[in-house]
Amino acid sequence: MADLENDIAKILITREQLTTRISELGQMISRDYAGKDLFLVCVLKGGVVFLSDLVRAIHIPHAFDFMAISSYGGTHTESSGVVRILMDLNASIEGRNVLIVEDIVDTGRTLAYITENLRTRNPASLKICALLNKPSRREVPVTLDYVGFDIPNEFVVGYGLDYNELYRNLPFVGVLKPEMYTGAHSETPTT
Ligand code: IMP
Repeated sequence: MADLENDIAKILITREQLTTRISELGQMISRDYAGKDLFLVCVLKGGVVFLSDLVRAIHIPHAFDFMAISSYGGTHTESSGVVRILMDLNASIEGRNVLIVEDIVDTGRTLAYITENLRTRNPASLKICALLNKPSRREVPVTLDYVGFDIPNEFVVGYGLDYNELYRNLPFVGVLKPEMYTGAHSETPTT
């Protein structure tokens, strides 16, 4: 872990801040969805660390499933918003109260695609829970119903978020040193 931490310019959100905020989000969600059929949809891979802590902070019965999508034509630090589904949900969401669990909302293009796609499947309701939000980067309007933290326009890693598939295991959210970027262009899984 020490090696990975050397690549971090600064810690933006500590492990303790994450724990406290996720517990608050869990309480809000538990209250808002009490008595309803709650179904969480986690967007892989970045959302998975957040999901695993969030579900343990939600104290009402619920199910969850995963979707994997690919962002075509972006870079390792910018998503293009041209998205396709790599792995779809196993279950039908028709008539269920769906809450999308995302790691970070940047331009909003990825979430705009996912919400549009899921809406065609006729859920009873469709809301979004994002751990991190970069409001200054928004290009497509998306309504975020639950947000962990608003953050400035910096590329962050840790707590599920990656650069080049690394740093997901850091227990905090940190800003990567700019010299760590390579800026390669490819079709990369949106993470
Ligand atoms: P959007 O479509 O521009 O909103 O991008 C959302 C996706 O881009 C997220 O799910 C992440 O995979 C990725 N992303 C955006 N900003 C960051 C960041 O600062 N660190 C790591 N991944 C990011």
